[in-house]
Amino acid sequence: MPRFAYVNGRFVHHADAAVHIEDRGYQFADGVYEVVAVMDGDFIDRQAHLERLDHSLHALRITPPVSQPVLKLLMQALVRRNGLKNGLLYLQITRGVAPRDFKFPKAAKSAIVMTTSRLDHGQLGKYDHGVRVVTIPDIRWARRDIKSTGLLAQVLAKQAAADAGAFEALMVDGDGYVTEGASSNAWILTGDGVLVTRQPDRSILHGVTGNTVERLAAELQIKVERRAFTCAEAQSSREAFLTSATNFCLPIVQIGEKTVGDGLPGQVTARLRTLYLDYAKNRQGEAFGWSL
Ligand code: PDD
Repeated sequence: MPRFAYVNGRFVHHADAAVHIEDRGYQFADGVYEVVAVMDGDFIDRQAHLERLDHSLHALRITPPVSQPVLKLLMQALVRRNGLKNGLLYLQITRGVAPRDFKFPKAAKSAIVMTTSRLDHGQLGKYDHGVRVVTIPDIRWARRDIKSTGLLAQVLAKQAAADAGAFEALMVDGDGYVTEGASSNAWILTGDGVLVTRQPDRSILHGVTGNTVERLAAELQIKVERRAFTCAEAQSSREAFLTSATNFCLPIVQIGEKTVGDGLPGQVTARLRTLYLDYAKNRQGEAFGWSL
């Protein structure tokens, strides 16, 4: 089956999909994106992703190229065309094409690209034993709540993780507090059973998956605290895990040189992971909004 991409109003063969060299996304990373998981042909938490997309666009004063209802139809159409059952939809909107000039162009129309990729979420089982992460200084800009396509710091962080044979890099701010993973949010479980994840201010991306996990935790009567935690606190926590649209709820068993807990995925993490998978399978896709 041919694979299609959606590029500025047209469905085109993936191999032929292209944008102009003066697209501001290409020249300035002047754009935003979303990654939405697809399970059994349906989106997980699409509404929440679209609300965050609106937040990112609004923060950068980029006019949406299409309305939200139209975007939903286009997302659906691309998934159908590609016969995608399980995988990811990538959506990117830039300020458009214009001669290179830092200031906003007067006439450019925002540009949109969407692609899909296959990912067997069942394969997530391969991480059941948990993952190792490294820590790295967070060198990003001050508006990390915007899901910007400017991802160079994350590229370097992921490469540092890969070089160390680890799955992810936890980024650490100047005061020694963990902000988040290079492409995930970071969570710990304290000795007295409280889940902790960083407060959703401008220092991190407000994770859609994390918001859902927080609500699932509430169903289990687990207390969640939104506050910063240090690397040392994470290393001596009872359990730790990552959340993201790509890997759902992923146990961390080692941070740097230090084993977390007894080196096995924690019980609470495992329960949340199972609950999240059930939630995703039952396609309560539009159940939760983005904001807390
Ligand atoms: N990244 N923090 C960062 C820096 C991220 O890039 C992501 C997601 C998250 C988790 O957000 P969510 O739960 O909404 O996926 C947190 C996507 C998956 C990516 O860039 O591929």
